[in-house]
Amino acid sequence: MEVVIAPADELARLAADSIEALLTRRPRTVLGLATGSSPLKVYDELARRHKDGLSFAHARAFMLDEYVGLPAEHPERYRNVIEREIASRVDLAPGAVQGPDGNAEDLDRACADYEAAIAATGGVDLQILGIGTDGHIAFNEPGSSLASRTRIKTLTRQTREDNARFFGGAVDDVPRHCLTQGLATIMSAKHLVLLATGRAKAEAVHQLVEGPISAMWPATIMQMHPHASVLVDDAAASRL
Ligand code: GLP
Repeated sequence: MEVVIAPADELARLAADSIEALLTRRPRTVLGLATGSSPLKVYDELARRHKDGLSFAHARAFMLDEYVGLPAEHPERYRNVIEREIASRVDLAPGAVQGPDGNAEDLDRACADYEAAIAATGGVDLQILGIGTDGHIAFNEPGSSLASRTRIKTLTRQTREDNARFFGGAVDDVPRHCLTQGLATIMSAKHLVLLATGRAKAEAVHQLVEGPISAMWPATIMQMHPHASVLVDDAAASRL
């Protein structure tokens, strides 16, 4: 696992460099996109590079997770977040971004279909990740099986409180369930690029880099990945 400690703008440029190199080498790249605030500077940088000619026209993208039961037009539905933050700002083709369907009638089926859709592309080439304060990646909360695949999960109180800021501060408005890629799904991506900034992430980053591999700190599974980059600022690195 490589760990880079640098200011947030530099981290975003480094992540964008990896994505640009992939797209240049292989236009049909399969990207893994994350929501949350951590990747936003990367998306800004990619939008800027798109204006300078970087094309996503032949790329495909898969989302990490989705809330269950949010109305189709809800601004915090992750599909809408990804559309707003990145897909609409570059030339990803219509339908090129897929996510688990949190409004499907048969959620188990939706999860299995999603795994099959990812596998059919040959897998994700580069997966962008954030990390929760409790060490979750995607919505794999503490206690998640290290061998898990896309499935329905219950969100912890901590994560719902952390995410309440996106719902006008009202924790009761944050959905209780989600569909999320599992840890084994994420581990099957060829390159993992995790971004974390700010002191609130310091303990999670410490566990991720220096802790024992444990389902209680789900991100620690990344220690087993042959190509994982952990991009952190000084504050997030303060416990290393
Ligand atoms: C949510 C998302 C995760 C994200 C995490 C951290 O729970 N499902 O994918 O990594 O939040 O969010 P942030 O980057 O806003 O701190």
